[in-house]
This record gives sequence, C-alpha cells and structure tokens, in this order.
Amino acid sequence: MSRSLLKISELKQDDLIAILALAERISLGNMPNLSHHLSVATLFFENSTRTKVSFELAAKRLGLLYTNVDITKSSVAKGEAFEDMMLTLGAMAIDVFIIRHQQQGLMNIARELLPKASIINAGEGMLAHPTQAILDAFTLLQKFGELSNLKIVITGDIRHSRVARSLITALSLLGAKNIILSAPSYFLTDEPIANTIIETALDKAMVHADVVYTLRVQKERFKESSSFPLDEYVEQYCLTQQRIDKVHKNISIMHPGPINQDVEITKEVANGVNSLILKQVENGVIVRMAILAWVLLGNQSGN
Ligand code: CP
Repeated sequence: MSRSLLKISELKQDDLIAILALAERISLGNMPNLSHHLSVATLFFENSTRTKVSFELAAKRLGLLYTNVDITKSSVAKGEAFEDMMLTLGAMAIDVFIIRHQQQGLMNIARELLPKASIINAGEGMLAHPTQAILDAFTLLQKFGELSNLKIVITGDIRHSRVARSLITALSLLGAKNIILSAPSYFLTDEPIANTIIETALDKAMVHADVVYTLRVQKERFKESSSFPLDEYVEQYCLTQQRIDKVHKNISIMHPGPINQDVEITKEVANGVNSLILKQVENGVIVRMAILAWVLLGNQSGN
C-alpha cells in the first residue's frame, strides 16, 4: 500500500518530525528530488481557498503533473458515486489524490479502493484536517523553537472543528503539555479531548498564554435546529485588541482561516502585529510541498 496522510493519529512522532524537517529544508531552498512524471489530483467536494491553492502551488513548485477535478463540473453532478469516481481516476494512474469531503470515512474508502495511490486528507467533515495541523505546528516551531514550555489556548467553535482535533494531536505528539480549551459549553465537545484542559472563561485562559488559536464559527456544520447567542459569544470570546491588551501584548494570534470578522476575531487583531495568520498561509505552501514529498519519497523507498 502506498504512503498516505489521512489523520495525525496515524503518524508516528518520527513521521511528523520527518515532514517538518523536509519543510524546513524546502524553506531553505533545498528541493526534494522527485520524478516529474508523478501526478497529483485535487478533489474538493467542499469549498476552499487556502488548502486547494496551496496544494496546487506545492505540486507545481515540485515539478509534478497537476490536475484539479472540478467537482461541480464533474460526473458527480450526473450522480456518479464517489467509489466509481475514485476507481475511474485510479485507472488513469494518478499517483496522489488530495481530497476534501464533508462525509467522514471516505478517505479510508479511497485508500482501500486505490492501494497503489497516495491519499492526502485535505479536510474531512468534523474529523480531521491533518495538513492544517502540520503547517500550524511548523509555524509555532518557527516562532518558538519548541513547544513543551508553551501555554497554547484554543478557543472558538471547537465542537465542529476538524482543525482543533488534528492540531491538538499534532501538538501533543510534538511535546506540547499545556493546551487549554476555552469555549462556551455549546462549542465544546461532549467527550473530553485528550491532553487538554478546559477553562471556559477566555480572559482567564489567556493569562500568561503564549498563543491564542481561535477557530471559525462553522455554521455550515450546525444541526438544523441549532443556534447560538451571537451577541453574548462575541462579548465573551471575540479576540479584540482590548482583550489582548488586558493580558499581555506579545501573545501570538493564530486562526486557520477563513475568518468571520467581528465574530471570533476583529480585523484589527487578525491584521495586527501579533498575528501569525498570514505566516500560517505562507507556510501552508512549504508544508504541503513537504507532505507531497514525504508520501512520494516513502513510496519510492517502499515504506
Ligand atoms: N484553513 C482552511 O482549510 O482554509 P480553506 O477552507 O480556505 O482551505
């Protein structure tokens, strides 16, 4: 079976360190040696700006053959099943499939259907977004050098967040020991998340924090009957400059994007001096080049 990246919990610590080391080398201009005949396809069943464009740039900068399958114009619109589509594309000997899908479990199905291809999960329902987690970890390591002494607050709509689930697993694998979740009960998960503690009050959670990672309110994943008290949420959880000034001025701000301005973060804070948000985006291309190289080099070496 070819090497794939479906979720962080499938990675050993050495794998994650190897991807980060590859990203570091790429950022210094050392390109991995890959055959230019290798091919990559993106299949985005959900919208994306950052992930899709950065994977396209990553593939092209590595000199790989790249194609996007425009789902809205594909035969999915004629009722073609996911499995049939994957088998059809697999018959074209595509080496890497980068897939985003709202339905959990389809990444595993793709891997089982196409054992000779690599599958990269570019966002799976509320379950996993491993490439976002790795680029976030890379950004934090670039800024702080190591994670074990950092106090990292993750706030916002944790309940519906595939980013939070993958990020917590990645940070824990890399030695982070102080991860605080801060959200109202309706945005926390029913089950506790390993390696985290909860401090509901954001202002309290942010005291002595090095990083606040805020998440988008994902209305598209709410159950039909669900709603939340927007004004109260903004009052208690929106990252404003005033809230940051109350704790300390050097706290780093992260967000996976896209942003709901003035819901989880103000424009001023998102574009402010403490913000790492565009650095996350910049690193997204490098880290996704590293992930592509990691799967393809693994396949070449028979791992
Ligand atoms: N963070 C993230 O996945 O952004 P996109 O939806 O724009 O890819």
